[in-house]
Amino acid sequence: MAERLSLTSAFSSSSMASLSAASRLLPSATKAARLSLSTPSPSLSSSSSSLKCLRSSLLSPHLLLRQRRSAVHVAASNFGTVASPKCFASDPDQLKSAREDIKEILNTKFCHPILVRLGWHDAGTYNKNIEEWPQRGGADGSLRFEIELKHAANAGLVNALKLLETIKDKYSGVTYADLFQLASATAIEEAGGPKIPMKYGRVDTSSPDQCPEEGRLPDAGPPNPAAHLREVFYRMGLNDKEIVALSGAHTLGRSRPERSGWGKPETKYTKDGPGAPGGQSWTVQWLKFDNSYFKDIKERMDEDLLVLPTDAVLFEDPAFKVYAEKYAADQNEFFKDYAEAHAKLSNLGAKFDPPEGISIDDGPVTAAPEKFVAAKYSSGKD
Ligand code: HEM
Repeated sequence: MAERLSLTSAFSSSSMASLSAASRLLPSATKAARLSLSTPSPSLSSSSSSLKCLRSSLLSPHLLLRQRRSAVHVAASNFGTVASPKCFASDPDQLKSAREDIKEILNTKFCHPILVRLGWHDAGTYNKNIEEWPQRGGADGSLRFEIELKHAANAGLVNALKLLETIKDKYSGVTYADLFQLASATAIEEAGGPKIPMKYGRVDTSSPDQCPEEGRLPDAGPPNPAAHLREVFYRMGLNDKEIVALSGAHTLGRSRPERSGWGKPETKYTKDGPGAPGGQSWTVQWLKFDNSYFKDIKERMDEDLLVLPTDAVLFEDPAFKVYAEKYAADQNEFFKDYAEAHAKLSNLGAKFDPPEGISIDDGPVTAAPEKFVAAKYSSGKD
């Protein structure tokens, strides 16, 4: 228990403000308000795999049935040898249920942006030049530990962890590493973005001394933004196209001076929330995932919209500009490239069990646009 940040303290005042704004907007928010966010969890530390198997079987009769079926099959074909049930890093049935719970939180708290940032900051520490796991960093759940949450780049992300805490408590058969990536991909899809071709089964780091050192995530205002972005993202094994596509995630969310030091304290687009009011957004409808980020940073017509130095360079650097122009002109191109890049980001550095990963989507996964729900709340417009 001592190994993880205690999340038992009362919700922060900003989170409470979020909740009350959301309640005004949606009646079902009151249901979410009843969720207890102060219950300590016994399940957060690493547990032995046998215990985890037992818990996940208890929670998932479907899984148990499947395991029995497979044991019977193996016994018949192997002349009576008893098959021991195999438990993977995460349980598919629990992943699916957790996804529904995440949707409920998104619909009541409008926290899509911070959940996307949580997934990105867990994965984005990956260093392709280090072979060993977990020293190489990446999507391994290490961002749950206080030591990493306290890195300057992660300011404010403790609120994202608090939002997911009840879900982690409920589904012990879902690793943190999977939960962070599940929450991020679900947030993109629920905000109207493309379907992300995700896989699951990420293994968690087990102790704070496995966290990466500070300084692996990008700065927003380095002396040479293009060179800095390339240095950081190439280290992750990502290319120019993926840098530009992934930067498009800033179509969601806000920057807050009290967290990152960037952005205005509030604008006409953020002063009423939803969620905790304030901050400066990159786009007008900052809960809608579309290509307006590229249109807005290209035009720079609105003083109330944010353009970081690392955003501006996407239209200044000749190689980045090819993609930025394409995405500003064609949302389908952006969605296609974004979905692929997001899935790749979510897998960086991850150790999968089973090695091929787990799919929780039925049928082939394509990058088609999904339904859109929350955007109208981000600007007060219909
Ligand atoms: C390219 C380099 C990047 C830089 C320098 C950067 C920098 C920042 C900064 C300074 C903030 C404001 C944080 C705050 O004050 O709360 C932010 C927010 C955000 N970033 Fe990035 N970011 C980068 C890439 C990405 C990527 C690759 C993603 C996702 C794929 C992403 C997703 C987000 C989201 C969704 C927010 C809004 C969070 C919120 O509203 O709570 N960013 N980023």
